[in-house]
Amino acid sequence: MSNKTLTITDNRTGKTFDFEIKNGSCGPAVADLTTFYDKTGMFVYDPGFKSTASCSSGITFIDGEKGILLHRGYNIEDLAENSDYPEVCYLLLNGDLPDLQNKKKFIKILTHHTMLHEQILRFYSGFRRDSHPMAVMVGIVGALSSFYPEKTYDFSSEKGKWVAVSRLLAKMPTMAAMAYKYSLGQPFIYPKNELSYSENFLHMLFSTPSGEYKPSKASVAALDKLLILHADHEQNASTSTVKIAGSSGANPFACVAAGVASLWGPAHGGANESVIRMLNIIGDEKNISQFIKKAKDINDPFRLMGFGHRVYKSHDPRANVLRKYCHDLLNEVESFNAPLFKLATKLEEIALNDEYFIKKQLYPNVDFYSGIILKALGLPESMFTVIFAVARTVGWISQWKEMTESENRISRPRQLYNGKEIRQFIKINKRKKNESMFPEHIE
Ligand code: ACO
Repeated sequence: MSNKTLTITDNRTGKTFDFEIKNGSCGPAVADLTTFYDKTGMFVYDPGFKSTASCSSGITFIDGEKGILLHRGYNIEDLAENSDYPEVCYLLLNGDLPDLQNKKKFIKILTHHTMLHEQILRFYSGFRRDSHPMAVMVGIVGALSSFYPEKTYDFSSEKGKWVAVSRLLAKMPTMAAMAYKYSLGQPFIYPKNELSYSENFLHMLFSTPSGEYKPSKASVAALDKLLILHADHEQNASTSTVKIAGSSGANPFACVAAGVASLWGPAHGGANESVIRMLNIIGDEKNISQFIKKAKDINDPFRLMGFGHRVYKSHDPRANVLRKYCHDLLNEVESFNAPLFKLATKLEEIALNDEYFIKKQLYPNVDFYSGIILKALGLPESMFTVIFAVARTVGWISQWKEMTESENRISRPRQLYNGKEIRQFIKINKRKKNESMFPEHIE
């Protein structure tokens, strides 16, 4: 053990226990508590993992106090300004930005695996036509695991991992666009190899057999930036879900389906959809104060969607970048919903100057602006989280890959049990009348 230790005293017995303090390259050190139970006979209690470093990782660094986000050491603002989404994918997966030759090769791979097996297309028709596209995505991504079975692909090998990585990255936009087309009742649009990743995605979303969609430069740039800004965010809920699923050795396509499910929730990726719904409900600047009041009322479940973050406590750097692209789109895209954007800006201004939000360190997060951009691109709210899922796939699969390449044990948390102590079984005819477990009027 190094001489840097954390000493914990159990006040009940006076015994002390030493735990090694480990330093990362940046950010807070960790106390290595892997032997905590063996030494103390106690578990560490941290519901919601507010103080838990679940792994060591070299992919993404966040300084929540200063509002810094780095991917493999590069600042997110720098990447958004100078890079493109495939390059950021390469960086997250590989650790370094690609040279020209490797970039070309990577793009060729991403481009040549975009099509889905025709049998997959039949899955779509099994869904109700009014299904939420995230429900469709959970099913379709999970179904891919049956097309990439372990008996054919050894996902513990470098080659097998690469199959999972490349196929997921290439096929996610196709699956997402098809979920959208299915909801509209329009024919699926197949990928086009000559287009860039973001152009091709827009093509599959908006072209029809009778008309080719020609996106504006601003639309392609906005989508590409949005994908970059959502690409990874260290050990967030959906990434941790993918990794926990993967820690048992499960099929990586099934693990990513679990990530899609986790992302869907309104406290995570579903927030971008909720932001637009909230702005529509607020409707007008004159109603903002009433909703701010509701958000502050502890007895009211209403929260300002797109505000607050578990980690960022000064600002979300991704929100700052997206805010700029919102403005660019406002100038270039005709269909841009300017009143909605103005309402969002006003709400942001009022909330940022409100004592409650200042005290609780609640700032707009990336989802506050991503919904507005996606709306400007012509997508319905139900597709917002799907776009997030497409972008985050690289984060999920990079973190999964890193986990499988390091010392990996099945993730198996423990608990503070607060149920009944051991008791005797009572035969049914001897049991007292007890409370029903069924909700009222249930059949
Ligand atoms: N509006 C009003 N009050 C809020 C908000 C909000 N958006 N967010 C947090 N608070 C309050 C809470 O009521 C709580 O108050 P209390 O101390 O009086 O109990 C306090 O601020 C701390 O909030 P917690 O929910 O305990 O913080 P936590 O870290 O668990 O949650 C979360 C973070 C889920 C993001 C939360 O801020 C939230 O629900 N925000 C709205 C949903 C949202 O925008 N989610 C997107 C997250 S970013 C992403 O996934 C890409």
